[in-house]
Amino acid sequence: MSYLVAANWKMNKTVGDTLEYLELFLPSVKDLTKVEIMIAPPFTALSSASIKLDAAKKEGEYNVKLGAQNMYFEEKGAFTGEISPVMLTELEVDYVILGHSERRHIFGEKDELINKKVISAVEHGIRPILCVGETIEEREQGKTLSVVERQIRNGLAGVERDMVYIDIAYEPVWAIGTGVNATPQQAQEVHRFIRSLINEISKGNDSKTRILYGGSVNEKNARELIKEPNIDGFLVGTASLDPERFYKIITEVL
Ligand code: G3H
Repeated sequence: MSYLVAANWKMNKTVGDTLEYLELFLPSVKDLTKVEIMIAPPFTALSSASIKLDAAKKEGEYNVKLGAQNMYFEEKGAFTGEISPVMLTELEVDYVILGHSERRHIFGEKDELINKKVISAVEHGIRPILCVGETIEEREQGKTLSVVERQIRNGLAGVERDMVYIDIAYEPVWAIGTGVNATPQQAQEVHRFIRSLINEISKGNDSKTRILYGGSVNEKNARELIKEPNIDGFLVGTASLDPERFYKIITEVL
C-alpha cells in the first residue's frame, strides 16, 4: 500500500475557500501518484470539492481522494443534523474519519457508537479512518497502550475480518493542535503495538491497513516521523489548511 497523507480541515473553510485551495493545490500534485492524498473539507464543501476533483481527474493523473469528517450509521431517517453514508457515496466520498478525538471529547462519542459508524462505512464502501489516542493524563498514568487497545478492539468489533478496507490513525490527544508532536520513537512504539494488535484480531488479514500518525504534523517533522517502519502516513490538521504547507508535507513523504 502507498502512504496516505490526509488533510482534516475540521470546521474551517467555506465553499469559496475550498475551491480557491484546490485551484492552487491540485496542479502541484498532478502526476504525483506514489502517495495517496486525501482531503476532508467540511460537509458543506464536499459537493463542490467532488466536482472539482472529478474535473481535474479528466485532465490528468491525480491520486487525490475525498474524505468526510464524520457520518451517522443509518442510511436515512429522523436524525436531525446528521449525514448518512448514502449521502456521502452520492458525492463520491472515498474516506470517512471516525472517532476523531474531537468527536470523542467535545461531542461525547463512545466506542459503541463509533463502532456502528465503522461497520456502516465498510458496508457502504467508504473507507473508514478510525482515530484512537490517549489523553495526557492517561499517558502519565502509563495507560497509553491499554486505552488504544480498548478503542481499537471496541471500534473494530464485527469488522475484524474486513481490515483490508480500514485504516487507523493514532492521534495522541495531547499532540493535537498543540504544536507538540509525539517524537518518532513515541509514535513508533504505539504504531508497532497497533500493527501487532490488528494483525492478531484480523488473523493476518490487515496487509492493506495503514496506520497514520496525527498530532502537530508539519513540514519540519514529517520526514523524521515517516522514517519509522510502522508509520504509513499522516492525518494532518492545522498544517493542511495551507496548500503550500500541505504540499511540502507530502513531498517529505516521497
Ligand atoms: O485530524 C487531525 C488531527 O487532529 C491533527 O490536528 O495537525 O492540528 O495537530 P493538528
